[in-house]
Amino acid sequence: MSDTAKLIYDGNEYPLNVITGTEGERAIDIRTLRADTGLVTLDSGYANTGAAESSITFLNGEQGVLRYRGYPIDQLAECSTFVETSYLLIFGKLPNHSELEEFRQMLTYHSMIHEGMRHFFEGFPATGHPMSILSSMVCSLSAYYPDCLDPDAGNLKHIARVLSKVRTIAAFAYKHSIGQPVIYPRNDLDYCGNFLRMMYAVPAEPYEPDPEMVKALNMLLILHGDHEQNCSTSTVRLVGSSNANLYAAISAGILALWGPLHGGANQAVIEMLEGIRDSGGDYKGFMQGVKDKRERLMGFGHRVYKNYDPRAKLLQGMADRLLAHLGLHDPLLDIAKHLEQIALADDYFIERRLYPNVDFYSGIVYRALGIPTNMFTVMFALGRMPGWIAQWREMHLDPGRRIGRPRQIYVGETEREYVPIDKR
Ligand code: CMC
Repeated sequence: MSDTAKLIYDGNEYPLNVITGTEGERAIDIRTLRADTGLVTLDSGYANTGAAESSITFLNGEQGVLRYRGYPIDQLAECSTFVETSYLLIFGKLPNHSELEEFRQMLTYHSMIHEGMRHFFEGFPATGHPMSILSSMVCSLSAYYPDCLDPDAGNLKHIARVLSKVRTIAAFAYKHSIGQPVIYPRNDLDYCGNFLRMMYAVPAEPYEPDPEMVKALNMLLILHGDHEQNCSTSTVRLVGSSNANLYAAISAGILALWGPLHGGANQAVIEMLEGIRDSGGDYKGFMQGVKDKRERLMGFGHRVYKNYDPRAKLLQGMADRLLAHLGLHDPLLDIAKHLEQIALADDYFIERRLYPNVDFYSGIVYRALGIPTNMFTVMFALGRMPGWIAQWREMHLDPGRRIGRPRQIYVGETEREYVPIDKR
């Protein structure tokens, strides 16, 4: 295959390099396009734009393939832990015993938040959405660690801090919303066990996390670990490209994730399923509404996947296993499976290549774990944290990095004279 493309414009010919990634993906390198030709490109939604060369996540949406640093997602979900996968995403290799132990220790010893920050929770209304609280709190961390303002200073400590403290913040936000005292982290528990304890323990009685729930949570977070240049990750990179500190960049990523077309879809899926259940369970009528464009089937469709999202498949299996372990039956899972069955056999979805995405079944698992619906997107954010950190770090280590600054095609008024107010 050729490694040059040709642009013919205004009687001139411009050769453009074609670069190839390690998995054979090809891109036209337009880095000197404007300087050479005076032209820019226009690509709404960035559907054809490669914003970075990255060695973190490989995703083939046609074949439904997802790998972190080369390792298939199903192997990591089955065999790894969230902490180990976080190390892999951030540092590029699976840790050996001592590396993993050191990383674990760092997460353990950075799990508490400043007592001053604990009082912030009291200022938020109990009904405040936990995503707004999480993002504000993560940004506030930068006020407590002023050395983070130097983009080259002590990254490792900040990485451990943000990764560890988000779970404490998330659990404290939940405790505040239900009027219970916060539960501090315990150093003898692992990352996920600690989170479950901070969520569900009360001072009045002992609490030991259920190992099956810990396993399910590890897997859930691993599945959300990274997903290359999506909306929130691109936000983290864009904000970070100005040399804004890690906490500020992650806080912006959390806000981008919140939208229902992105991470907020997991909450929207459960609300959709509850709506179908509460109106008598007419899922066939609902699907007709989707085809008539009166409804949107949340948790379906993806910009990149034109095949089954491998994460959705793993989550469906996990939902079945966890519900069986807990002795629960969730009628919403039945409705979800009916909707999927219809979609996989219906021309509307087949022609548009719409399949379940990660958000379709994750909510069922969160419900089984006792997570309230308005915290689902917070759980997505906890899982995506190592991916955001890895992408932020990769961008900072790139010697060719430049501030993110897209161009535009101006389509407004051309120059005109100012008109005084009484003459308008
Ligand atoms: N339900 C019904 N129709 C859909 C859906 C859906 N969920 N998704 C796409 N379509 C239709 C869309 O109406 C369009 O049809 P037409 O050609 O007749 O106009 C066609 O499929 C192409 O859709 P698009 O909106 O151009 O696709 P996009 O790549 O711009 O949007 C998406 C991707 C994920 C925003 C969209 O599929 C969607 O809104 N899905 C529901 C929300 C959701 O589940 N989001 C989570 C994404 S995965 C987690 C993550 O954020 O990483």
